[in-house]
Amino acid sequence: MRARRSVADKYCAGPFAAVTAARPAPRAATYEAPPNIALVKYWGMRDRARAVPYNSSLSVTLGRFRSRTRVAFDPTRDEDEVEINGARATGGPREGVVRFLDRVRERAGTADAAVVMSDNNFPTASGLASSASGFAALAGAASLAAGLRLSDRDLSRLARFGSGSASRSVYGGFVEWQAGHRADGSDCYARPVYPADHWPELVDVVVFVEGAPVKEVRSAEAMQASVATSPLYARRLAGVPGRLRAIRGAIGRRDTARLFPLVMEECDNFREVCETTRPSLDYLTTTSRALLGEVRALNREAGRPVAAYTHDAGAHVHVFTLARHVRRVRTRLAHLPGVRSTLIVRPGPGGHVVGPVVRGSSRGRRRSRPV
Ligand code: DP6
Repeated sequence: MRARRSVADKYCAGPFAAVTAARPAPRAATYEAPPNIALVKYWGMRDRARAVPYNSSLSVTLGRFRSRTRVAFDPTRDEDEVEINGARATGGPREGVVRFLDRVRERAGTADAAVVMSDNNFPTASGLASSASGFAALAGAASLAAGLRLSDRDLSRLARFGSGSASRSVYGGFVEWQAGHRADGSDCYARPVYPADHWPELVDVVVFVEGAPVKEVRSAEAMQASVATSPLYARRLAGVPGRLRAIRGAIGRRDTARLFPLVMEECDNFREVCETTRPSLDYLTTTSRALLGEVRALNREAGRPVAAYTHDAGAHVHVFTLARHVRRVRTRLAHLPGVRSTLIVRPGPGGHVVGPVVRGSSRGRRRSRPV
């Protein structure tokens, strides 16, 4: 029986290589990346053009979810085509992807248009932030397809231009995105602090609420409004480095008594900054607020911190707890009015390439620039 040739074989190997190299052929790659939830939030950029944040942040990479993105640069196409979850993207979402591709094209020295197909294995409507996983996956797929061979660190540096939090989705486990000090932003990238299996008992109970409002303003815009108008922003900035150090240390020691109150303190501080922004940023619903209250009550009744809440710029709530408390926490929260569903998530692995990278041809090649 004749073996079927893969797409990669077809374009770059075997006796057909010489023939196919003469004709324009797409160069393609597929990359998968997970979302993450920040325990120490990124909120505010000190340099917008370079996508450099004011403060370092720290997140947990969420297992079981991912965005899978395929990018094919096609020398025969005139325009980028973007498909997200099976639907052709237009307007803002398409423009964000095209701008990101332009950056990759510039670095790789190519002018080819691309076909981008991206799918999430979690519904966008679930409210789980898909920009972190989406842009990390796009960074991986686009850079490989364009012939750039980036280290994870360089991938993280690149991904932040799509969405700041995407810089952290390159890695698994517990990840810190360091703001860095250099004016050119070259020391601004994420790095893994503890691997995904560092703390197997740690669980994130994700609580989805009904009627979560659709985000009207992208976080990148909203956070700059906070920088400009929240009277609490400067105080937040002064407090974050110490809190980040303490949170990183508590994760290292697997110390919930220290970690859980700090995670809630950080979340409360982030929320206060949002609420005191003009115009005010209110991401929560009545149910989200009730959930926060319920977690506080749970800890009060237990006489020690058994759970910690956090949320990003959205209404769903992540409740961290230990595996042995999951049933108690879940039962208590799942029955609150307005809760749609709960899902158990653990720290998971980072981004990775899927299948072969197809090396085709390119038109309009220019000399590539270092990242
Ligand atoms: C509150 O600019 O990364 O989640 O607007 O969705 O692209 P998008 O997000 P991004 O801002 C993230 C803000 C945050 C905190 C965080 O993840 O650190």
